[in-house]
Amino acid sequence: MPRAVIRAGIIGIWQTWGMSETGVAPADLFEKVFNHERREQLEAADAADLNPYFRLLTSQAGPVVEMEGRETIMLGSNNYLGLTGDPRVKEAAARALEQYGTGVTGSRLLNGTTPLHVELERELADWMGSEATVVFSTGYQSNVGCLQAILGPGDTVICDSGDHASLLDGCKLSGAKLRPFRHNQMEKLEKMLRRAQDDGGGILVVVDGVYSMEGDVCDLPQVVELSKRYGARVMVDEAHGVGVLGARGAGATEMFGLEDEVDIRMGTFSKSLASCGGFIAADEEVVRYMKISARSFIFSASGVPASVGAALEALRIILAEGPQMFERLLANADYLREGLKSLGLKVVEPGMLPDGTVATTPVVPVVVGDDWKAVLLWKALFDAGLYTNVALHPAVPPGGALLRTSLMATHEREHLDRALEIVERVIPEFDGLTSD
Ligand SMILES: Cc1ncc(COP(=O)(O)O)c(C=O)c1O
Repeated sequence: MPRAVIRAGIIGIWQTWGMSETGVAPADLFEKVFNHERREQLEAADAADLNPYFRLLTSQAGPVVEMEGRETIMLGSNNYLGLTGDPRVKEAAARALEQYGTGVTGSRLLNGTTPLHVELERELADWMGSEATVVFSTGYQSNVGCLQAILGPGDTVICDSGDHASLLDGCKLSGAKLRPFRHNQMEKLEKMLRRAQDDGGGILVVVDGVYSMEGDVCDLPQVVELSKRYGARVMVDEAHGVGVLGARGAGATEMFGLEDEVDIRMGTFSKSLASCGGFIAADEEVVRYMKISARSFIFSASGVPASVGAALEALRIILAEGPQMFERLLANADYLREGLKSLGLKVVEPGMLPDGTVATTPVVPVVVGDDWKAVLLWKALFDAGLYTNVALHPAVPPGGALLRTSLMATHEREHLDRALEIVERVIPEFDGLTSD
């Protein structure tokens, strides 16, 4: 039976039963499901096989993958160091699986803490140069739980508009007053800090070390300086910074030499650390408080042993071999960025560091603008054997669609040259993409 008929039938029955005493039927809760603004676009995209989401990866993640049965160059993965296929990481995951089983089936607080979790927390703290860390089951839960725990309805939280969704969700959940400022605009941050002085509660400034869509680095020295001047604490999401930036790979905070100035740092295992999970690094007292008040930590099952074992081994490899891997990764990002620019494409510039060098990160986004053009470009590249990510509104501002490419340390120049050849072949089909 067609869905519309079933729906009309269900609503009809429900309207009769659901009448209140005044005879006014409540609105259908599912109206948004049947009539949301993206529905037509999604259906059209599906019909034309243009939907860039939920495409099937049919091999392991790596520089070259199999997607939907075809060999594809991968320029859309967060496997920055290429460690998801490293035999040592896979063996560590297998050992953890063998020793502790497939899952712990309970919260960290109760029956979900294995010696692997404890070892990982200790080694992460050494790496981050913090007193302590606490491991969550995902990066998303780390942000949501941390912010919900540390902020309350009387406090104010000041966020960059480019902050990751998990940070915004945590802020909303906390009930704190949210004061957003325009992406990386320090005078706007200062305006919000000034306003927050009269709000009456504690103040937290929350930024990403590296912004996930734009790939640019936060102006952390300024953020820290302003926050101190106005008595605010600082939290940095280092999801795209750990395993990438700084001499030890501890993130943007380390790169800027601000580890002692930032109050809370968050990292994920789902990118450089080749697994799934996340952590908060902070002073011992703060971490102890998280462990008894972060609801996403207390009321959700602990990460499975295999993912904890994999993250621990990836961390040990980073500690031993990190600098060479970071160098290869960032050299690949420079190479691709310059290659895309030489084809006339507009890339989001990563910005400069205080020492005058380019603030390269593994994320190299191409500015497309229009959502449909970005989807069509994505599909043309995909059909030609190149996978990228497409970022559309609301992930980016309206009219700011991006083709987000990201690099791995394990990409060889030959992979990047092949990718650039594909891009060069495809872009003449699209008006207004290049500067000439
Ligand atoms: C900046 C940032 N923070 C947090 C997260 C959430 O991490 P996870 O995917 O590990 O849950 C992501 C993941 O996309 C991210 O990009």
